[in-house]
Amino acid sequence: MPSGDDEIVQALRDADLIGADDPVLEPLTGGVSCDVWRLETPTGPIVVKRPLAQLRVAAEWTAPVERGASEVRWLQRAREVNPDIAPKVLAELGAGHAFAMEFLPDCPVWKDELVAGRVDIDFAAQVGRNIAAVHTATANSDADRNAFSNDEMFRALRVDPFLLYVAEQEAELAPALRALADDLMVRKIALVHGDVSPKNILVRSGSPVFIDAECAVYGDPAFDLAFCTTHLLLKAVWLDDERLQQAAVAMVDSYRAAIDWEAPNELLLRAGRLTGALLLARMEGKSPAPYLTEPDHQNIVRSQARALILDALPIDDLVTQWKRTFA
Ligand SMILES: Nc1ncnc2c1ncn2[C@@H]1O[C@H](COP(=O)(O)OP(=O)(O)O)[C@@H](O)[C@H]1O
Ligand SMILES: [Mg+2]
Repeated sequence: MPSGDDEIVQALRDADLIGADDPVLEPLTGGVSCDVWRLETPTGPIVVKRPLAQLRVAAEWTAPVERGASEVRWLQRAREVNPDIAPKVLAELGAGHAFAMEFLPDCPVWKDELVAGRVDIDFAAQVGRNIAAVHTATANSDADRNAFSNDEMFRALRVDPFLLYVAEQEAELAPALRALADDLMVRKIALVHGDVSPKNILVRSGSPVFIDAECAVYGDPAFDLAFCTTHLLLKAVWLDDERLQQAAVAMVDSYRAAIDWEAPNELLLRAGRLTGALLLARMEGKSPAPYLTEPDHQNIVRSQARALILDALPIDDLVTQWKRTFA
Protein backbone atom coordinates (compact mmCIF):
# COMPACT_ATOMS: atom_id res chain seq x y z
CA MET A 1 0.00 0.00 0.00
CA PRO A 2 1.39 3.47 -0.84
CA SER A 3 2.38 5.43 2.25
CA GLY A 4 0.03 8.03 3.65
CA ASP A 5 -3.07 6.19 2.56
CA ASP A 6 -4.18 4.99 5.97
CA GLU A 7 -6.81 7.69 5.94
CA ILE A 8 -8.32 6.28 2.75
CA VAL A 9 -8.32 2.75 4.11
CA GLN A 10 -10.03 3.98 7.27
CA ALA A 11 -12.59 5.89 5.22
CA LEU A 12 -13.27 2.77 3.14
CA ARG A 13 -13.85 0.87 6.37
CA ASP A 14 -16.09 3.61 7.74
CA ALA A 15 -18.14 3.36 4.55
CA ASP A 16 -18.40 -0.42 5.04
CA LEU A 17 -16.76 -1.04 1.69
CA ILE A 18 -13.96 -3.22 3.11
CA GLY A 19 -13.53 -5.50 6.08
CA ALA A 20 -10.72 -5.75 8.64
CA ASP A 21 -8.06 -6.89 6.16
CA ASP A 22 -5.92 -4.19 4.58
CA PRO A 23 -6.76 -3.92 0.87
CA VAL A 24 -4.20 -4.19 -1.92
CA LEU A 25 -4.34 -0.94 -3.87
CA GLU A 26 -3.50 -1.73 -7.49
CA PRO A 27 -2.71 1.42 -9.51
CA LEU A 28 -4.75 1.82 -12.70
CA THR A 29 -2.87 3.35 -15.58
CA GLY A 30 -4.23 6.80 -15.99
CA GLY A 31 -3.59 10.45 -16.20
CA VAL A 32 -1.51 13.07 -14.55
CA SER A 33 -3.86 14.51 -12.01
CA CYS A 34 -4.91 11.71 -9.67
CA ASP A 35 -4.11 8.52 -7.90
CA VAL A 36 -6.50 5.87 -9.19
CA TRP A 37 -6.54 2.40 -7.72
CA ARG A 38 -8.50 -0.77 -8.20
CA LEU A 39 -9.08 -2.91 -5.16
CA GLU A 40 -10.96 -6.03 -4.25
CA THR A 41 -13.73 -5.84 -1.69
CA PRO A 42 -15.99 -8.55 -0.27
CA THR A 43 -18.65 -7.49 -2.77
CA GLY A 44 -16.37 -7.20 -5.82
CA PRO A 45 -13.79 -4.84 -7.28
CA ILE A 46 -14.06 -1.08 -6.81
CA VAL A 47 -12.10 1.96 -7.91
CA VAL A 48 -10.72 4.57 -5.51
CA LYS A 49 -9.70 7.90 -6.95
CA ARG A 50 -7.86 10.70 -5.16
CA PRO A 51 -6.98 14.05 -6.77
CA LEU A 52 -3.40 15.35 -6.58
CA ALA A 53 -2.64 18.98 -5.75
CA GLN A 54 0.33 19.14 -8.17
CA LEU A 55 -0.30 17.58 -11.58
CA ARG A 56 2.30 15.23 -13.05
CA VAL A 57 3.19 17.30 -16.13
CA ALA A 58 6.40 19.01 -17.18
CA ALA A 59 5.11 22.57 -16.72
CA GLU A 60 4.21 23.88 -13.27
CA TRP A 61 0.48 23.23 -12.92
CA THR A 62 -1.44 23.04 -9.67
CA ALA A 63 -5.16 22.60 -9.13
CA PRO A 64 -7.43 22.52 -6.09
CA VAL A 65 -8.26 19.02 -4.86
CA GLU A 66 -11.93 20.02 -4.44
CA ARG A 67 -12.29 18.93 -8.06
CA GLY A 68 -12.77 15.42 -6.63
CA ALA A 69 -16.10 16.57 -5.25
CA SER A 70 -17.04 18.07 -8.63
CA GLU A 71 -16.34 14.76 -10.29
CA VAL A 72 -18.58 12.92 -7.86
CA ARG A 73 -21.39 15.40 -8.47
CA TRP A 74 -21.02 15.11 -12.25
CA LEU A 75 -21.10 11.30 -12.16
CA GLN A 76 -24.22 11.37 -10.02
CA ARG A 77 -25.94 13.99 -12.17
CA ALA A 78 -25.10 12.14 -15.39
CA ARG A 79 -26.62 8.95 -13.97
CA GLU A 80 -29.84 10.84 -13.28
CA VAL A 81 -29.92 11.68 -16.99
CA ASN A 82 -29.07 8.11 -18.01
CA PRO A 83 -27.77 5.51 -15.53
CA ASP A 84 -25.81 3.75 -18.28
CA ILE A 85 -23.45 6.64 -19.02
CA ALA A 86 -21.42 6.89 -15.79
CA PRO A 87 -20.16 4.54 -13.08
CA LYS A 88 -21.99 4.47 -9.78
CA VAL A 89 -20.37 6.41 -6.94
CA LEU A 90 -20.18 4.21 -3.83
CA ALA A 91 -18.83 6.65 -1.25
CA GLU A 92 -17.05 9.94 -0.77
CA LEU A 93 -14.03 9.19 1.38
CA GLY A 94 -13.40 12.53 3.04
CA ALA A 95 -9.66 12.08 2.80
CA GLY A 96 -8.56 14.77 0.32
CA HIS A 97 -11.75 14.49 -1.72
CA ALA A 98 -11.12 10.88 -2.61
CA PHE A 99 -14.09 8.74 -3.60
CA ALA A 100 -14.99 5.16 -4.43
CA MET A 101 -16.96 4.01 -7.45
CA GLU A 102 -17.93 0.73 -9.02
CA PHE A 103 -15.21 -0.91 -11.15
CA LEU A 104 -16.47 -1.67 -14.65
CA PRO A 105 -14.90 -4.95 -15.75
CA ASP A 106 -14.03 -5.69 -19.37
CA CYS A 107 -14.53 -2.10 -20.45
CA PRO A 108 -11.57 -0.93 -22.50
CA VAL A 109 -10.73 2.73 -22.79
CA TRP A 110 -12.01 4.11 -26.12
CA LYS A 111 -8.58 5.58 -26.91
CA ASP A 112 -7.00 2.11 -26.83
CA GLU A 113 -9.70 0.81 -29.15
CA LEU A 114 -9.10 3.63 -31.61
CA VAL A 115 -5.34 3.24 -31.54
CA ALA A 116 -5.72 -0.50 -32.11
CA GLY A 117 -7.66 0.31 -35.28
CA ARG A 118 -11.09 -0.61 -33.94
CA VAL A 119 -13.04 2.48 -34.98
CA ASP A 120 -16.76 2.08 -34.35
CA ILE A 121 -18.60 4.95 -36.01
CA ASP A 122 -21.86 4.15 -34.25
CA PHE A 123 -20.04 4.35 -30.91
CA ALA A 124 -18.79 7.83 -31.84
CA ALA A 125 -22.36 8.85 -32.66
CA GLN A 126 -23.46 7.59 -29.25
CA VAL A 127 -20.76 9.69 -27.61
CA GLY A 128 -22.20 12.79 -29.30
CA ARG A 129 -25.76 11.88 -28.33
CA ASN A 130 -24.89 11.20 -24.72
CA ILE A 131 -22.84 14.35 -24.19
CA ALA A 132 -25.78 16.25 -25.65
CA ALA A 133 -28.22 14.40 -23.36
CA VAL A 134 -26.45 15.79 -20.28
CA HIS A 135 -26.37 19.24 -21.82
CA THR A 136 -30.08 19.15 -22.71
CA ALA A 137 -31.07 17.92 -19.26
CA THR A 138 -29.08 20.63 -17.47
CA ALA A 139 -29.52 23.59 -19.83
CA ASN A 140 -30.81 26.73 -18.15
CA SER A 141 -31.11 25.00 -14.78
CA ASP A 142 -30.48 27.13 -11.71
CA ALA A 143 -29.97 24.03 -9.57
CA ASP A 144 -27.20 22.70 -11.80
CA ARG A 145 -25.71 26.12 -12.19
CA ASN A 146 -25.46 26.45 -8.41
CA ALA A 147 -24.18 22.90 -7.90
CA PHE A 148 -21.37 23.34 -10.44
CA SER A 149 -20.20 26.92 -9.94
CA ASN A 150 -16.61 25.72 -10.33
CA ASP A 151 -15.29 28.66 -12.30
CA GLU A 152 -11.95 28.92 -10.55
CA MET A 153 -11.30 25.22 -11.06
CA PHE A 154 -12.23 25.43 -14.73
CA ARG A 155 -10.01 28.43 -15.13
CA ALA A 156 -7.05 26.65 -13.51
CA LEU A 157 -7.51 23.38 -15.38
CA ARG A 158 -8.76 24.47 -18.76
CA VAL A 159 -8.80 28.18 -19.56
CA ASP A 160 -5.34 29.08 -18.27
CA PRO A 161 -3.36 26.07 -19.54
CA PHE A 162 -5.17 25.58 -22.85
CA LEU A 163 -6.03 29.11 -23.97
CA LEU A 164 -4.15 31.79 -22.05
CA TYR A 165 -0.80 29.98 -21.83
CA VAL A 166 -0.78 29.72 -25.63
CA ALA A 167 -1.88 33.35 -25.96
CA GLU A 168 1.27 34.40 -24.08
CA GLN A 169 3.45 32.71 -26.68
CA GLU A 170 1.54 33.71 -29.80
CA ALA A 171 1.30 37.48 -30.18
CA GLU A 172 -0.67 37.33 -33.41
CA LEU A 173 -3.27 34.94 -32.01
CA ALA A 174 -3.38 36.40 -28.50
CA PRO A 175 -6.37 38.75 -28.99
CA ALA A 176 -8.50 35.94 -30.46
CA LEU A 177 -7.45 33.46 -27.76
CA ARG A 178 -8.08 35.95 -24.95
CA ALA A 179 -11.51 36.79 -26.35
CA LEU A 180 -12.27 33.09 -26.52
CA ALA A 181 -11.17 32.61 -22.90
CA ASP A 182 -13.37 35.51 -21.75
CA ASP A 183 -16.34 34.16 -23.66
CA LEU A 184 -15.85 30.68 -22.22
CA MET A 185 -15.78 32.02 -18.67
CA VAL A 186 -18.99 34.02 -18.94
CA ARG A 187 -21.20 31.66 -20.92
CA LYS A 188 -23.38 29.75 -18.46
CA ILE A 189 -25.60 27.42 -20.47
CA ALA A 190 -25.35 23.80 -19.31
CA LEU A 191 -23.35 21.29 -17.28
CA VAL A 192 -20.01 20.68 -18.95
CA HIS A 193 -17.97 17.53 -18.26
CA GLY A 194 -14.75 19.33 -19.17
CA ASP A 195 -12.55 16.36 -20.10
CA VAL A 196 -14.40 14.38 -22.75
CA SER A 197 -11.39 12.64 -24.23
CA PRO A 198 -11.28 9.09 -25.64
CA LYS A 199 -9.07 8.29 -22.63
CA ASN A 200 -11.97 9.10 -20.35
CA ILE A 201 -14.63 7.09 -22.13
CA LEU A 202 -14.97 3.39 -21.40
CA VAL A 203 -16.50 1.02 -23.94
CA ARG A 204 -19.16 -1.12 -22.27
CA SER A 205 -20.77 -3.55 -24.70
CA GLY A 206 -20.47 -1.06 -27.54
CA SER A 207 -21.80 1.92 -25.57
CA PRO A 208 -19.93 4.78 -23.89
CA VAL A 209 -19.44 5.28 -20.15
CA PHE A 210 -17.95 8.63 -19.18
CA ILE A 211 -15.44 8.95 -16.33
CA ASP A 212 -12.94 11.52 -15.03
CA ALA A 213 -15.19 14.56 -14.63
CA GLU A 214 -12.84 16.61 -12.44
CA CYS A 215 -13.19 19.67 -14.65
CA ALA A 216 -16.99 19.71 -14.50
CA VAL A 217 -18.43 23.22 -14.55
CA TYR A 218 -21.64 24.97 -15.43
CA GLY A 219 -20.56 26.64 -18.63
CA ASP A 220 -20.49 26.41 -22.40
CA PRO A 221 -21.56 23.00 -23.73
CA ALA A 222 -19.62 23.74 -26.93
CA PHE A 223 -16.48 23.03 -24.90
CA ASP A 224 -17.23 19.32 -24.50
CA LEU A 225 -17.93 18.85 -28.19
CA ALA A 226 -14.79 20.78 -29.13
CA PHE A 227 -12.60 18.93 -26.64
CA CYS A 228 -13.51 15.46 -27.87
CA THR A 229 -13.41 16.52 -31.52
CA THR A 230 -9.88 17.84 -30.96
CA HIS A 231 -8.73 14.45 -29.72
CA LEU A 232 -10.23 12.62 -32.69
CA LEU A 233 -8.78 15.03 -35.24
CA LEU A 234 -5.29 14.83 -33.71
CA LYS A 235 -5.43 11.06 -33.83
CA ALA A 236 -6.68 11.20 -37.42
CA VAL A 237 -3.46 13.08 -38.33
CA TRP A 238 -1.22 10.89 -36.21
CA LEU A 239 -2.54 7.63 -37.67
CA ASP A 240 -3.66 9.14 -41.01
CA ASP A 241 -6.85 7.15 -40.58
CA GLU A 242 -9.93 8.41 -42.41
CA ARG A 243 -12.20 6.47 -40.07
CA LEU A 244 -11.07 8.59 -37.13
CA GLN A 245 -12.19 11.66 -39.02
CA GLN A 246 -15.48 9.92 -39.85
CA ALA A 247 -15.87 9.22 -36.15
CA ALA A 248 -15.54 12.95 -35.47
CA VAL A 249 -18.10 13.70 -38.17
CA ALA A 250 -20.53 11.15 -36.71
CA MET A 251 -20.08 12.51 -33.20
CA VAL A 252 -20.69 16.09 -34.30
CA ASP A 253 -23.71 15.06 -36.41
CA SER A 254 -25.44 13.24 -33.59
CA TYR A 255 -24.64 16.05 -31.16
CA ARG A 256 -26.00 18.66 -33.56
CA ALA A 257 -29.25 16.76 -33.99
CA ALA A 258 -29.81 16.92 -30.22
CA ILE A 259 -29.23 20.66 -29.66
CA ASP A 260 -32.55 21.98 -28.40
CA TRP A 261 -31.50 24.62 -25.85
CA GLU A 262 -30.16 27.30 -28.20
CA ALA A 263 -29.73 28.06 -31.89
CA PRO A 264 -27.57 25.19 -33.19
CA ASN A 265 -25.60 27.40 -35.56
CA GLU A 266 -24.32 29.58 -32.74
CA LEU A 267 -23.15 26.62 -30.72
CA LEU A 268 -21.53 24.99 -33.75
CA LEU A 269 -19.54 28.13 -34.50
CA ARG A 270 -18.39 28.48 -30.87
CA ALA A 271 -17.39 24.82 -30.89
CA GLY A 272 -15.46 25.32 -34.13
CA ARG A 273 -13.59 28.28 -32.69
CA LEU A 274 -12.76 26.37 -29.52
CA THR A 275 -11.60 23.36 -31.51
CA GLY A 276 -9.10 25.52 -33.37
CA ALA A 277 -7.73 26.84 -30.09
CA LEU A 278 -7.64 23.42 -28.42
CA LEU A 279 -5.84 21.92 -31.41
CA LEU A 280 -3.13 24.55 -31.07
CA ALA A 281 -3.01 24.02 -27.31
CA ARG A 282 -2.24 20.37 -27.91
CA MET A 283 0.81 21.54 -29.88
CA GLU A 284 1.94 24.46 -27.73
CA GLY A 285 0.07 24.40 -24.44
CA LYS A 286 0.90 22.93 -21.07
CA SER A 287 -0.46 19.52 -22.03
CA PRO A 288 0.91 18.71 -25.50
CA ALA A 289 -0.35 15.57 -27.25
CA PRO A 290 2.42 13.09 -26.36
CA TYR A 291 2.07 11.06 -29.54
CA LEU A 292 2.28 13.93 -32.03
CA THR A 293 6.06 14.09 -32.12
CA GLU A 294 6.65 14.08 -35.90
CA PRO A 295 7.35 17.63 -37.13
CA ASP A 296 5.18 16.98 -40.21
CA HIS A 297 2.22 16.00 -38.07
CA GLN A 298 2.74 19.01 -35.84
CA ASN A 299 2.86 21.34 -38.83
CA ILE A 300 -0.33 19.90 -40.31
CA VAL A 301 -2.16 20.51 -37.05
CA ARG A 302 -0.52 23.85 -36.29
CA SER A 303 -1.20 25.43 -39.66
CA GLN A 304 -4.87 24.42 -39.69
CA ALA A 305 -5.35 25.39 -36.05
CA ARG A 306 -3.86 28.86 -36.58
CA ALA A 307 -6.11 29.47 -39.58
CA LEU A 308 -9.16 28.32 -37.62
CA ILE A 309 -8.39 30.63 -34.69
CA LEU A 310 -8.15 33.64 -36.99
CA ASP A 311 -11.11 32.63 -39.15
CA ALA A 312 -13.42 30.15 -37.43
CA LEU A 313 -15.49 27.50 -39.15
CA PRO A 314 -18.59 25.87 -37.64
CA ILE A 315 -17.47 22.57 -36.17
CA ASP A 316 -19.58 20.51 -38.60
CA ASP A 317 -17.72 22.08 -41.53
CA LEU A 318 -14.42 21.90 -39.68
CA VAL A 319 -14.56 18.14 -39.20
CA THR A 320 -15.41 17.45 -42.83
CA GLN A 321 -12.76 19.86 -44.16
CA TRP A 322 -9.98 18.75 -41.78
CA LYS A 323 -6.80 17.64 -43.59
CA ARG A 324 -4.94 14.64 -42.22
CA THR A 325 -1.95 15.20 -44.51
CA PHE A 326 -0.43 18.03 -46.54
CA ALA A 327 -1.21 16.18 -49.77
N1 LIG B 1 -14.98 2.92 -12.80
C1 LIG B 1 -13.97 2.41 -13.50
N2 LIG B 1 -14.02 1.15 -13.98
C2 LIG B 1 -12.98 0.63 -14.69
N3 LIG B 1 -11.86 1.31 -14.96
C3 LIG B 1 -11.74 2.56 -14.50
C4 LIG B 1 -12.78 3.18 -13.76
N4 LIG B 1 -12.40 4.42 -13.43
C5 LIG B 1 -11.17 4.58 -13.94
N5 LIG B 1 -10.77 3.48 -14.59
C6 LIG B 1 -9.46 3.28 -15.27
O1 LIG B 1 -8.51 4.11 -14.65
C7 LIG B 1 -7.98 5.04 -15.58
C8 LIG B 1 -7.76 6.39 -14.90
O2 LIG B 1 -8.98 6.90 -14.40
P1 LIG B 1 -9.42 8.42 -14.62
O3 LIG B 1 -10.66 8.66 -13.83
O4 LIG B 1 -9.46 8.70 -16.06
O5 LIG B 1 -8.23 9.19 -13.88
P2 LIG B 1 -7.09 10.18 -14.38
O6 LIG B 1 -7.50 11.50 -13.84
O7 LIG B 1 -5.88 9.63 -13.76
O8 LIG B 1 -7.05 10.15 -15.87
C9 LIG B 1 -9.00 5.09 -16.71
O9 LIG B 1 -8.40 5.41 -17.92
C10 LIG B 1 -9.51 3.66 -16.72
O10 LIG B 1 -8.62 2.83 -17.42
MG1 LIG C 1 -8.50 10.13 -17.28
